Amino acid sequence: MNRILIGAQWGDEGKGKIIDLLTAKSDIVVRYQGGNNAGHTVKFDSETCVLHLIPSGILHAGKICVIGGGVVLDPEAFFEEVRALEKRNIRVRGRLFVSDQAHMIFPYHKLLDRLKEESASEKDMIGTTKKGIGPCYADKMARLGIRVADLKYLDYFAQRLESVLKERNETLRKIYNHPGLSFKEIFSKFKKYRKELLEFAIDTPRYLYDATKRGKSVLFEGAQGTLLDVDHGTYPFVTSSNASVGGAITGSGVSPTVIDRVIGVVKAYTTRVGEGPFPSQFPPRLLKHIQTKGEEFGATTGRPRRCGWFDAVIARHSVRINGLDEMAIMKLDILSGLSEIKIATAYRIGGKIRKDYPHSTYEFSHAQPVYETMKGWKEDLSGVKRWKDFPLNAQKYLKRIETILETPIKIISVGSKRAQTVFL
Ligand code: IMP
Repeated sequence: MNRILIGAQWGDEGKGKIIDLLTAKSDIVVRYQGGNNAGHTVKFDSETCVLHLIPSGILHAGKICVIGGGVVLDPEAFFEEVRALEKRNIRVRGRLFVSDQAHMIFPYHKLLDRLKEESASEKDMIGTTKKGIGPCYADKMARLGIRVADLKYLDYFAQRLESVLKERNETLRKIYNHPGLSFKEIFSKFKKYRKELLEFAIDTPRYLYDATKRGKSVLFEGAQGTLLDVDHGTYPFVTSSNASVGGAITGSGVSPTVIDRVIGVVKAYTTRVGEGPFPSQFPPRLLKHIQTKGEEFGATTGRPRRCGWFDAVIARHSVRINGLDEMAIMKLDILSGLSEIKIATAYRIGGKIRKDYPHSTYEFSHAQPVYETMKGWKEDLSGVKRWKDFPLNAQKYLKRIETILETPIKIISVGSKRAQTVFL
């Protein structure tokens, strides 16, 4: 069984928990897009560790993890995670593979990301994670990228770095009045990473082709969410990769014919970190309450996430783009205690009711949510084990979401622990 797991909102849906559950049923876990802008908090006994790049499947003994060619890889961040895992006696070598097609994030990508954000006017700010993700993908598309495979031949790598850096230093000087970065410093840094990084590097499409032919079960884990997808998200307030289903195909180099199921993860409400329109955002008091109760702070940047009612317009858009077979709904327990609960089922834009997500950024930024209001429930859900134990109003809320999205909910999460999961 090969499954793709997708975030169906703006990321941070709680994919990590479902990935952990599905990893148990898989042989191989593949990350296919994004970079160390993602974050998955993992608890080790009394310590907490955040994995940004390496699939959390690495914590399950015997599972193979693959970082696909669609990922942008910052060697510095990669080795930090490798060392942190090894320090905890987790075997990484021979179990973790990196695509030799993956583009590498260089210091100038991080610098450009930061300078661009700092110099942007308020309305043009994206609120990026400043990890160099956007500039690295931009270079990939501009054919100025440097891939892991380019490290194999040091002379070639040096030549390539020299010519790309020349161009990027021009940008730094002319646009940002920055003196530019030194070739020598970057080259010597990457020369140090080179041997060790190449030990992890393989031809991942070939590896995955052979594995799926032999009947191995693969889990493709998406980072971020569909509304952050560069094509299908709330452009330009998106990340620079394809976080939706297509990214799993191009980013790992497998054919869509090997995929059996696509699973979408939604939160029982909506959150967003970074800039961009958010029609169903809560009023301030409720925002503070859910932020605190739901611990809605970014795993990568620590920024508070904006929170709002469940937006069925964007979720329906995700269902269609990804062809979701089923959904997992997370953090339902956080909504306990609210007298009423709303679902945004349409937008009012310029006096007209629109049921579909508008591609025009201007229209989206003027969208007023049209709500359906349902009764809330008081009961604490954190101990619920079966469907029939949910309060009637919680059942009605879930059923309504299923109906609007025309997609069955198969997993309901009521807390961060594995046991706090109801399978339907
Ligand atoms: P970038 O990916 O750092 O370029 O940031 C672009 C946008 O995507 C910003 O709004 C970020 O806050 C958002 N973003 C990137 N990664 C994540 C994530 O893992 N969860 C939620 N938002 C993210």
